[in-house]
Amino acid sequence: MIIPSPHHVEPRPGAFPLHPGRRISCAPGAERAGELLAGYLGLRGANGSAPSIWLELASRGPGPEGYQLDIRPQQVHLTATTETGLLHGVQTLRSLVSGNRLPCLRIRDAPRLPWRGVLLDVARHHMPLEFLHQFVDVMALHKLNVLHLHLTDDQGWRMEIAGWPRLVDVGAWRPESMIGPAGSGEFDGMPHGGYYTQAELRELVRCAAARGVMIVPEIEMPGHVRAALAAYPELGNFPERRLQVWTSWGISEDILGVHDTALAFCRDVLRQVANVFPAPYVHIGGDECPTTQWSNAPSALARAAELGFDDPGRLHGWFLGQMADTLRELGRTAVCWAETGQHAGGMPAGTVVTAWRDAAHGASAIADGHQVIMAPHRSTYLDYRPEEPAGHSGIVTTVADVYGFDPLAGGLPVAAGSRPGVLGAQAQLWTELAPTPDHVRRLAFPRLCAFADTAWRTTAPDYDEFRRRLAVHMDLLDALNALPTTCAETTP
Ligand code: ACM
Repeated sequence: MIIPSPHHVEPRPGAFPLHPGRRISCAPGAERAGELLAGYLGLRGANGSAPSIWLELASRGPGPEGYQLDIRPQQVHLTATTETGLLHGVQTLRSLVSGNRLPCLRIRDAPRLPWRGVLLDVARHHMPLEFLHQFVDVMALHKLNVLHLHLTDDQGWRMEIAGWPRLVDVGAWRPESMIGPAGSGEFDGMPHGGYYTQAELRELVRCAAARGVMIVPEIEMPGHVRAALAAYPELGNFPERRLQVWTSWGISEDILGVHDTALAFCRDVLRQVANVFPAPYVHIGGDECPTTQWSNAPSALARAAELGFDDPGRLHGWFLGQMADTLRELGRTAVCWAETGQHAGGMPAGTVVTAWRDAAHGASAIADGHQVIMAPHRSTYLDYRPEEPAGHSGIVTTVADVYGFDPLAGGLPVAAGSRPGVLGAQAQLWTELAPTPDHVRRLAFPRLCAFADTAWRTTAPDYDEFRRRLAVHMDLLDALNALPTTCAETTP
């Protein structure tokens, strides 16, 4: 009855009783998984009887993230070929505990997709660090293995960057926020802000890795940068213009310049980001970037002329290509949002593409040779309300909509090695209208459970069967304090 559904389960009679005398034995390489399990089962510091829960690395098993679990009345045996596999097995054990017992069974399990991501937008609303730690742990429970942390946007810059203090002194704060959707004209009059130090982010990375979760940071460019421009106007196209950190939502025409100062800034930020986040991927945005300012700013026109571009719009692909090159030198792969029209201008080769508008963009990026993360908004934008009335998008995305999402629809291939294909799927928690952790929890659950099942399971979808598992799983989430308590409703 767990989420996500394991690939193969063989139930057996009986149960393994958990009591404080139980000892966990970890073979070399399994120590971190054992420590995590001990914490979850309350066995930390226990000694006494002979080991009865064994964790070990094996030479053979079901894929790099797979694991095998054998629970008998006297013994629990968890094996995997990697630490990641063991960590997933630990989450299965955590989910199986019922009445201080583990049911006897055998499980052989592995995911269908390597990237099972969640975007959390901490730019529109800063989220407390403790919530990020809890969120990562609840992601791990669902075997969601990528936290795409959206760290910067028009409304806030949330990561401390050495040598650029105004990014957080100025860019992390705004005097108020628009209430309701873009263009509502209503503001709350309440200052908002906050940021994370590099040390705090490193510690988050460490805790996430101990749970098998990779954090992929996103630094938005060349659009969605008003917070950076408020801090350092010289990064823009019209350095004499003074901007505030944006208090509204929507798409801003204020974007980065393409002059040497702006490029040097971005490279410095990416170097520091790569230093804090060891993930092989860094997301550099690229979405919703009107290029009007590049058609008017003398420095941008000069850059376009120098590059022989008669259309300054081509600077968009060029800019992303420059940053993808910088990341390649740092040993990282750039990830960009698929954008309408971007393909004509050329999505930089070798970048991973997040297909957010619709799955067709993902399919065409695969045809162009890219690896793709499927994130079509109608199925994966959890900021859309789960029930009527629809929120600011006008779209309702129900639990069933999310569950019914198939990232491989149309027979798309799973990306293997460096070959093009679907690398994975991702759910999005944008927070324009989610000011607190409880708002985020309300948007996430239970739809994130449906997403996790979709991204992991290899069995055919069965919505009624999923709802039965979900009912049990919601009790577990409640026990973990993962569900909202204070806010009755998300703001429309
Ligand atoms: C996006 O929703 N602008 C990626």
